[in-house]
Amino acid sequence: MMSHGSAGLLLLLSVVSMATSQAVDLTRLPEAKGEPVVRATVSQIRESCAFQNDYLYLKRLAFVSSEYGMASGSFRPRFHGGIWQISREDYKLTRNMDSKFYDLIHKKLNIEWKKTKWRDLRKPLYSGIAAMLTLERLSPIPRDAKRQAEFFEIYLSGNATLYLDQISRTQRSCDTKELDMAFVLDGSGSISASEFEESKKFTSLVLRNFLVGPDYTRVAVTTYSDHVFEDIRFLQYNTTDSVRKAVFTVTKEDEYTKTHLALESLLTSTFTAQGKSRKEAARIAVIQTDGNSDDRSLTLKAAGRLRDAGVTVFAIASIIQDVNTANKYNCTGKKNIMFDVKSKTTIMVSVSQ
Ligand SMILES: *[C@@H]1O[C@H](CO)[C@@H](O)[C@H](O)[C@H]1NC(C)=O
Ligand SMILES: *[C@@H]1O[C@H](CO)[C@@H](O)[C@H](O)[C@H]1NC(C)=O
Ligand SMILES: *[C@@H]1O[C@H](CO)[C@@H](O)[C@H](O)[C@H]1NC(C)=O
Repeated sequence: MMSHGSAGLLLLLSVVSMATSQAVDLTRLPEAKGEPVVRATVSQIRESCAFQNDYLYLKRLAFVSSEYGMASGSFRPRFHGGIWQISREDYKLTRNMDSKFYDLIHKKLNIEWKKTKWRDLRKPLYSGIAAMLTLERLSPIPRDAKRQAEFFEIYLSGNATLYLDQISRTQRSCDTKELDMAFVLDGSGSISASEFEESKKFTSLVLRNFLVGPDYTRVAVTTYSDHVFEDIRFLQYNTTDSVRKAVFTVTKEDEYTKTHLALESLLTSTFTAQGKSRKEAARIAVIQTDGNSDDRSLTLKAAGRLRDAGVTVFAIASIIQDVNTANKYNCTGKKNIMFDVKSKTTIMVSVSQ
């Protein structure tokens, strides 16, 4: 659990940092590389809905082919295959497919594929699209790691043993793991309607980067004031899109701030078998608060119990403006990581890990 937790923390932080640096789209920058770039690329490709489900294959291939572009020689002279190391021959074959792909790639990703050149694959998104087109050409796309390894050897001139070996090294990332993620939103009177909208937007923004599904990330949303409402339960929505939409339908009550009741509810209801939480999954709770819980010591105690149950708890003080307030949540004395999300109004601090 420990390692899941810290991987989750890093992931969440990088999600947030990506959100703040939208000005430069690295996925279209030649020779951009690294895990966050690959993740952003895969997520754009997924959201374009131009292709079938890749069952994490695309991301894994990026690692196996070039360690997300970080392996030396990934961008060598006269070889333009990019992060996915697509050969010139395979690239040529991507230009000879059903026109529905080109229409969608144009419409959703604004790329005229037939006008591209092999050299364009030095850009992450282009290399990823070429990889996805190649998988479509060779489809059906294998679902599990073992069959993906065989496929890698048979069709992609790779080595199956090496594939399995390599992907076991990438397993720490949350989207390759089972993750049960509960968001807790502050619906009390001290949160204005527009602040509540902001916290829903934030939730939706974070979710954008997760593959939601029964076997991947499950999502729950709870709001609290002096009562606790389980607005969204695990398995109620099984796709990233549908759960992101559902988040916006959550409403707020105007009463007191009983954060500890929300945390109790996570423990007794959300993160239980009955709540459709998985024992073997990494568990994360993202608590949004104005930082003024009516009973702080109860809150800290409840957070501690959650931690003991293997849940990694993040408090996101979405409304508070200063580090001092965030420090109130510094109950573990461990190193906490804080993050400024857009406009410096969101500070993330890990309560327990
Ligand atoms: C695949 O890689 C493994 C480990 O590097 C090696 O022992 C094996 O011989 C390779 N298999 C093939 C078919 O090349
Ligand atoms: C989500 O998936 C679970 C498990 O496969 C299923 O029981 C449930 O009905 C699904 N929910 C929806 C809304 O499709
Ligand atoms: C939390 O406590 C630790 C140890 O006392 C300290 O190093 C850290 O700066 C504190 N604050 C945050 C927000 O991490």
